[in-house]
Amino acid sequence: MAHHTTTALLFGLIAVAAARQCQNLTIPIVASARNGVFDLTAPKNNIDVVNFVLDATQPGHNLTAELLTGYATVSGNYSIAATYCQPDGGPGTTLQVLTHGVGFDRSYWDFPANNYNYSYVNQALDRGYSTFAYDRLGIGESSHGDPVNEIQSYLEIAALRTLTTMLRQSTVSGITANFSKIAHVGHSYGSVETYGLVAQDPTISDGIALTGFSKDADFLGEFSLGANEIQANTFSRLSNYVDGYIAPATASALQADFFAPREFSPEILEAAFNTSQPNSVGEVLTMNGAYDAPNPYGGPVLVITGERDVPFCGGNCSATEPSIPEMVKGSFQNASYFDAVLIPGSGHGLNLEYTWPITYSTILDFMDKHVK
Ligand SMILES: *[C@@H]1O[C@H](CO)[C@@H](O)[C@H](O)[C@H]1NC(C)=O
Ligand SMILES: *[C@@H]1O[C@H](CO)[C@@H](O)[C@H](O)[C@H]1NC(C)=O
Ligand SMILES: *[C@@H]1O[C@H](CO)[C@@H](O)[C@H](O)[C@H]1NC(C)=O
Ligand SMILES: *[C@@H]1O[C@H](CO)[C@@H](O)[C@H](O)[C@H]1NC(C)=O
Ligand SMILES: *[C@@H]1O[C@H](CO)[C@@H](O)[C@H](O)[C@H]1NC(C)=O
Ligand SMILES: *[C@@H]1O[C@H](CO)[C@@H](O)[C@H](O)[C@H]1NC(C)=O
Ligand SMILES: *[C@@H]1O[C@H](CO)[C@@H](O)[C@H](O)[C@H]1NC(C)=O
Ligand SMILES: *[C@@H]1O[C@H](CO)[C@@H](O)[C@H](O)[C@H]1NC(C)=O
Repeated sequence: MAHHTTTALLFGLIAVAAARQCQNLTIPIVASARNGVFDLTAPKNNIDVVNFVLDATQPGHNLTAELLTGYATVSGNYSIAATYCQPDGGPGTTLQVLTHGVGFDRSYWDFPANNYNYSYVNQALDRGYSTFAYDRLGIGESSHGDPVNEIQSYLEIAALRTLTTMLRQSTVSGITANFSKIAHVGHSYGSVETYGLVAQDPTISDGIALTGFSKDADFLGEFSLGANEIQANTFSRLSNYVDGYIAPATASALQADFFAPREFSPEILEAAFNTSQPNSVGEVLTMNGAYDAPNPYGGPVLVITGERDVPFCGGNCSATEPSIPEMVKGSFQNASYFDAVLIPGSGHGLNLEYTWPITYSTILDFMDKHVK
């Protein structure tokens, strides 16, 4: 019996390994953006971090506006860590560019725990897509930077735009395929940046799926307070981040912000905490600026959010009629198609909850019908 189980497991592993061709890439890029200049010293210790969170979440205040002294162009040579995957049979005609959110790195899309049971990449490959998941500029194995005036939404969107252009022109060393379509999928802050990307350059994407998203900013304070943030370099695992990168202190903090009650495996929560990544204070200050304007984008748009999402819905996306995520439609008046889907019972961390099969089939059905 034990022997059979082992054999089945091994075959399972081989099946997963054989059905995909993945490759890690380190991509040099030049990125340049008009960033905010903030009158803020990066928090030096955990007390400073909590003070920052309290200042940023105080009702009736807009800390971004209070600290902003102007804008300045920030440019640099950066390195982006990415993983490109394609089906065994060769590259897909459509490439999906995957942008992770706060708390994670690119492994959010191809989560290794449980023999990759939660991998979005595997499901996309099964449907014939190629995928490009990258660590956002400033995070994970991509170049880090100054957490106040450099690593902001604006520069990260510029990096995403550069990467997308390189992928369209087949100039990313290591990826030889020419894709006829390029779509973008984001999660949370990655959705905010995907929104910002197509707002800046409406023809750059053939379709966008914004997961863990809405345009209601009223609940972001709950998320920030729930995150119980401390200086990231308090953890030896994250010691290569300078002061001003902040991270959830405990697995329970991650649970409060990403995992809905009874919809996840405790082992996955632990794995997510063990590999969690920080965000910069500059990202916190420039989130709203990245997506507050209406969007001229003319392609197909899917918004997909957990019914019990905290940061974008306050724990109940159906609290209004139409739902909070459905209201994003008002910002996409030129979209060729728009749909907003709520995932029953799920929280903000869609990919890591039991509901992932509904989430992934919804995104991939959208891609099949409206993008491919
Ligand atoms: C890519 O890098 C990640 C993290 O460094 C590693 O876990 C993964 O196994 C690598 N994947 C491939 C295909 O080499
Ligand atoms: C990037 O590196 C090149 C070659 O070293 C240099 O000429 C260029 O000025 C750098 N660009 C930026 C924006 O720093
Ligand atoms: C991709 O397209 C470019 C420009 O059209 C062309 O130069 C290149 O040979 C193509 N590459 C492949 C692998 O088809
Ligand atoms: C998480 O990390 C702890 C401490 O290193 C380790 O004991 C545990 O096995 C890890 N759990 C998972 C699910 O990765
Ligand atoms: C706060 O101020 C910034 C800068 O003026 C602005 O972009 C942002 O939309 C404001 N945030 C809110 C929630 O009004
Ligand atoms: C829709 O597209 C038109 C024509 O390109 C443009 O003038 C308009 O500003 C766009 N609408 C929105 C809401 O961005
Ligand atoms: C969400 O809010 C709506 C409207 O108030 C309510 O009808 C619904 O029961 C709430 N959902 C849950 C799960 O409590
Ligand atoms: C994989 O995820 C599905 C959906 O949540 C779940 O039903 C199944 O038990 C999981 N499989 C393993 C081996 O954990």
